[in-house]
Amino acid sequence: MERVLALEFARVTEAAAIAAARHMGRGDKEAIDAAAVEAMRAMLQTVRVSGTVVIGEGEMDEAPMLYIGEEVGAGGERVDVAVDPVEGTNLVAKGLSGAIATIAVAPAGHLLHAPDMYMDKIACGPACRGLIDLDRPIGETLRLMARRLERRVEDLTVVILDRDRHRERIAAVRAAGARLRLITDGDVIPAVAACLPESGVDLMLGIGGAPEGVLAAAAVRCLGGDFQGRLWPTDEAERERAQAMGVDPDARLGMEDLVRGDDVIFAATGITDGDVVPGVRFMGNEAAQTTTLVTRSRTGTVRWVTARHHLARKRQAVGSAGWRLPED
Ligand code: FBP
Repeated sequence: MERVLALEFARVTEAAAIAAARHMGRGDKEAIDAAAVEAMRAMLQTVRVSGTVVIGEGEMDEAPMLYIGEEVGAGGERVDVAVDPVEGTNLVAKGLSGAIATIAVAPAGHLLHAPDMYMDKIACGPACRGLIDLDRPIGETLRLMARRLERRVEDLTVVILDRDRHRERIAAVRAAGARLRLITDGDVIPAVAACLPESGVDLMLGIGGAPEGVLAAAAVRCLGGDFQGRLWPTDEAERERAQAMGVDPDARLGMEDLVRGDDVIFAATGITDGDVVPGVRFMGNEAAQTTTLVTRSRTGTVRWVTARHHLARKRQAVGSAGWRLPED
């Protein structure tokens, strides 16, 4: 994929983030999602690719826009597109930190078409590549990581979604002595954070959405870290659905299974404030400021793109694509 596309995809997540951020704290999850999806889709149509949504808002009959299989883009190279216009809808609804708008793009056939179910995941940064294993006891992994990083286990920080299903893992992290951050939502950004030494996060683990797993794996691939996933079907019907989609529900999926090849672009714009990217700021004269992390696996360059958008001028220049305000 051409290098310039990275900035084009950053524009896509910027538009979604601004649209979602308008609704921060209003408690209306549907409005948040609808605004972000509409903005993201409109902006995607301006990007010079022929994209197919492989991770999106659901099947065609349940999602009017950005449904799985939808064709997006203005025409060009054939690519797979994975989107989450609002990763952490609850966080935006309550005005809590850590919500992003995100996208991953790779040549056609290179992103796993993950079914919409749970996935068990583990992610670490470049320095600990090769050390993570979904089947190894957590305490042992933490000890291996500490040795590799020349730090004490007590100085490592693990991020886990605060869910009952993680009770044993939380106990295992505590028993090993590592620091723990329990989050209420949004497990993509912690995987990104694990790859950034300055973030203070060393390991992300636990069961969350499989679609979010593919997005996180794409980011981790660009940032040189390591990621493993395994579907976590909750009933027989889900197992069968996974099999029908060609994904073995029992297989441990490595990076190459989730995101094939070395030509991936990942972008994430902060909706609410977070450790990796700050949220949208609204300013005078209808201006808004966004910060986006955008990265490509080819080079591993990570950019934090801070942009100030003059929304009224944009609407004049490009129509409403992505820049419509709720009250327009
Ligand atoms: P959405 O905002 O897209 O709904 O996802 C939020 C999220 O917290 C993900 O980050 C995570 O993977 C998943 O939901 C966890 O699911 P659950 O809330 O069912 O435990």
